[in-house]
Amino acid sequence: SPSDPDLVERARAAKEKLGDKVFVLGHHYQRDEVIQFADVTGDSFKLARDAAARPEAEYIVFCGVHFMAESADILTTDDQKVVLPDLAAGCSMADMATAEQVAECWDVLTEAGVAEQVVPVSYMNSSADIKAFTGRHGGTICTSSNAKRALEWAFEQGEKVLFLPDQHLGRNTAVRDMGMTLEDCVLYNPHKPNGGLTAEELRNAKMILWRGHCSVHGRFSVESVNDVRERIPGVNVLVHPECKHEVVAAADYVGSTEYIIKALEAAPAGSKWAIGTELNLVRRLANRFAAEDKEIVFLDKTVCFCSTMNRIDLPHLVWTLESLAEGNLVNRIEVDPETEKHAKLALERMLALP
Ligand code: 13P
Ligand code: SF4
Repeated sequence: SPSDPDLVERARAAKEKLGDKVFVLGHHYQRDEVIQFADVTGDSFKLARDAAARPEAEYIVFCGVHFMAESADILTTDDQKVVLPDLAAGCSMADMATAEQVAECWDVLTEAGVAEQVVPVSYMNSSADIKAFTGRHGGTICTSSNAKRALEWAFEQGEKVLFLPDQHLGRNTAVRDMGMTLEDCVLYNPHKPNGGLTAEELRNAKMILWRGHCSVHGRFSVESVNDVRERIPGVNVLVHPECKHEVVAAADYVGSTEYIIKALEAAPAGSKWAIGTELNLVRRLANRFAAEDKEIVFLDKTVCFCSTMNRIDLPHLVWTLESLAEGNLVNRIEVDPETEKHAKLALERMLALP
């Protein structure tokens, strides 16, 4: 839907007034009406790096979700303020692993006598508490664009990986990229005693996957892949690694949002693509590449937007920018120093991956 011209003008004016004091980051899943005001767009890895590379900006306005803003706060200087235009923009996957549950899991691993061999690898899509846990136990953060390198690093440090909170990214990376089998992976269910696993199962496993998933990507199915192949002969199926293992196995290409964009940029004219990721991004790409005669469709029409990403809309962005321009610091995301110290260690390990 076209943005309200009055709001567009207000956002533009507030941003101009702020000048270099503000830096606006936009995740690829954001609405077009928000993306038009982003100084930089990217996947979660690129945005974490870009946030850290702007020490002169007093305000970092993060158009994305809560865990991304927390990570930006951890990676920026203490004087910089990270702002999330709507505090209700969380992530249901990140909420699937709480600090208490993860501490309990570590106790279970300790009881089973395997904790010493385990290196935690936590997906960026997790709270700062989980990142701090990861740092304390010698682990690293990863994103969908460096999960393979993170696992390679982790298996140099120990024999087993506790991967959290996205079981699908963990399983897909282990099986597709690391030569492991499905039998090498076990699923730890935080809602069951001992995670629903025996000590023997934990001893035999290479990958201990946390039972979390993305409610958007989890809805793509093998049927949607089969349907689109039937409907559009010669179609290339390209999906995000947060999709289920069987969907990823049925697809032609798999990668992060940034990878998806690069793949379409490199695609020849006349090619056809079905994309399994968030709808704002797929629509934007379909519009952008229509002019180059690349046909881009959404993998499954019954799947909808990420509702929390969508909470950041133009009215919230205008309110945020106008407040900052008037000197009112609103919606600041600030991680406490103790959590930050350990979470930063884990994030820096990721940034240092080869
Ligand atoms: P990437 O942008 O890193 O591919 O992550 C996708 C996602 O779901 C972020 O929430
Ligand atoms: Fe979280 Fe999924 Fe939304 Fe990404 S798309 S923010 S993983 S719920």
